[in-house]
Amino acid sequence: LLLGPPGAGKGTQGERISDRLGIPVLATGNVLRNAVRNGTDQGLAAKAYMNRGDLVPDAVILGIIKEALAQPEMKGGVILDGVVRTVAQAEGLSNALADLGRHLDTVLLFEVTDEDLVRRLGGRTVCERCQTPYTGMESGSPCPKPGCGGTVVRRMDDEPQAITTRMKAYRAQTAPVIDWYRGQGSKAASSSAKANGTRVLTVDAAGAVDEVTQRVLRQLEE
Ligand code: AP5
Repeated sequence: LLLGPPGAGKGTQGERISDRLGIPVLATGNVLRNAVRNGTDQGLAAKAYMNRGDLVPDAVILGIIKEALAQPEMKGGVILDGVVRTVAQAEGLSNALADLGRHLDTVLLFEVTDEDLVRRLGGRTVCERCQTPYTGMESGSPCPKPGCGGTVVRRMDDEPQAITTRMKAYRAQTAPVIDWYRGQGSKAASSSAKANGTRVLTVDAAGAVDEVTQRVLRQLEE
């Protein structure tokens, strides 16, 4: 599970870890943006929350999680990018995994200064089709990813007011999730019958993209 503030690099690193480990990524932000783009009921329900920078209601997210985990391609493991942002979602994911006889192995907590976050989000564009994030690429450019054919655009929630709202939502609603997972890990560690506790690894997500990837992979190997 990749956890961290907006712009910390969860999407960027998620793709790289996925390529390296050969397991898919589930990113609720991408699922929701595709739903908005396709005008589905889920997209219509989520659009206003997302454009303001607010969190989408827990029930919508838990629906996405349960549906995704049931897919055959997720059976060999999955990287969850930004999937849990409230304690209620952490509990819901835990229950959904338990029902499937599975568990959450690792939380990677990405840490970056607010200054870096604002600079990264200010310079970001994303492909509207494959959702790959880019830095320094003009809105309207063709996506450089081979075979994609999408157009690179600026995200509605990367405007200054929405960035401020997203940062506030992270501090108020998502930061408590870190302690929730730390508590789960120590509970499991003190009980041999529940040896499937989730470990929380903190990643220094400052510096070049390649450096961060190396740090993540090293920590996972250790
Ligand atoms: P989501 O799309 O997940 O947005 P986010 O969490 O705010 O995260 P971002 O995508 O902005 O940043 P990131 O950490 O992935 O960074 P990235 O790799 O792109 O969610 C959007 C919205 O959907 C939410 O606000 C909410 O409304 C809703 N939502 C989604 N999930 C939800 C949930 N579970 N519950 C409720 N609501 C939910 O990198 C950012 C930029 O920096 C890029 O340009 C990148 O190229 C660049 N960059 C990355 N790494 C580096 C580096 N090391 N050095 C320099 N630049 C870098």
